[in-house]
Amino acid sequence: MLKILHLAALLLAVCAKYPPGFKFGAATAALQIEGAWLQDNKAPSVWDNLAHLPNFTADGTAPDIAADSYNRYKEDIDLLVEGGIKHYRMSLSWPRIVPRGRRGSKVNEKAIKRYTEMFQYIREKGITPYVTLYHWDLPAVLSLQGYGLVDRYFPDDFLYYADVVFKSFKDYVKNWYTFNEPWVISVLEVMKDRDKATKPYEIGHNLLIAHARTVKLYREVYQSENKGVIGMVFNTGMSYPKNPENPKDVEAAYRAMNFSLGWFADPVFFGDYPEVMKQRVGRRLPRFNETERQWLKGSSDFFAFNHYTSSLTEEGTFQRQTDYNSDVNVTSTNNPAWKLTDMNWPIVPEGIHDLIVRINEHYIRGSKVPIYVTENGMANKETTSEDAKNDRARIEYLRDYLANVEKAIDEGVNVMGYFVWSLLDNFEWWSGFSKRFGIVRINYGTYPTRETKASFYWYRNYIKDKTTSEEVVA
Ligand code: BGC
Repeated sequence: MLKILHLAALLLAVCAKYPPGFKFGAATAALQIEGAWLQDNKAPSVWDNLAHLPNFTADGTAPDIAADSYNRYKEDIDLLVEGGIKHYRMSLSWPRIVPRGRRGSKVNEKAIKRYTEMFQYIREKGITPYVTLYHWDLPAVLSLQGYGLVDRYFPDDFLYYADVVFKSFKDYVKNWYTFNEPWVISVLEVMKDRDKATKPYEIGHNLLIAHARTVKLYREVYQSENKGVIGMVFNTGMSYPKNPENPKDVEAAYRAMNFSLGWFADPVFFGDYPEVMKQRVGRRLPRFNETERQWLKGSSDFFAFNHYTSSLTEEGTFQRQTDYNSDVNVTSTNNPAWKLTDMNWPIVPEGIHDLIVRINEHYIRGSKVPIYVTENGMANKETTSEDAKNDRARIEYLRDYLANVEKAIDEGVNVMGYFVWSLLDNFEWWSGFSKRFGIVRINYGTYPTRETKASFYWYRNYIKDKTTSEEVVA
């Protein structure tokens, strides 16, 4: 019996489609797991403040303690080791590192010290860190005393913070992301009363400028010594035409992809916004000057994206283009056959394959730029620890999405990494702690504890089976 099992394992390894050096990882973000919201001189972020407003989050919770990872990072890193997960995507907290937010303001040495210790521990344990500079936790002071994300000085303030981070952690980190999901930051995030006609485009523009300048700084000052890579993390669902025979539905799907992924990936890869956006948004879409276009074009060393779900699209019902939604003018629905996650997001495993193929054709175009799935995973209804220990639905989700990543690789696409969202249950923004995405359960409270779920062990075995040769550490 043992022999047969051994043979089967060998066969699996031989059949594995992942290229040598493929990075299996897990991801988190500072605000969602760190807690310690005022510890060591940290100032509140916009999200800390919002979450403290009555009825802001679905369950009335705020990320004050969360998983307390700022203090318990060793437990998290030990879990990565236990799970055989050698690649860890995480983010740093701007209001922790530069509490007053502004360029030139004081750096918080306590936070630098703590993060340095954390990176030392990460290194000691043989894990490679992938660091996002901005995962939505804007220092609150920037929007209280300024215009926040649309402030004309936002790129300068961000550049200052980025420079502090590069300088402080260049000995430990070689994989950098400027912004996580600029589309969400521009369209979905907070600011209820914002002017939807122009604000999303102004925010997006500011993010792109800040990104381009940060990449320029990194490449000019740090890259030759640091020998790392830098880029942005995009996000998109896969939009399918509801009726593929109907040209209007086909166009709607095209618009949906261009107003989500294309809005940011086109400037970063080609130096300008997609034509369809320029046409439809007209004068409300800011323009790049020639220098900015040059800075932007090729400002990512890889194509990184987060992906969770897909939808069916058809032409919307807006008569005039006056704001973001009417500019896109798309109605999205679900195929009733699709199962839903606890977020009510449809589970469409083939979506990730089709998206990767589209990215490959549209952006990679035969170049050597590698593709990374920097987030993928699902919220599962887990009321008790017992539910968490039997998170079968998550295992099926991961299994089926990964099979589709593998399929794209088999077809010749250069995908080099996949990160599960998330290592831990965490603060799920508007949903508070009511949604659980982790492969490790967090029992919330003053002293949060960790419990591995079935999916944690499933992922560990998967990585083991699929790792063909020693991974090359980037
Ligand atoms: C974000 C995460 C978030 C996840 C699930 C992504 O949009 O980067 O912070 O928790 O999706 O909603």
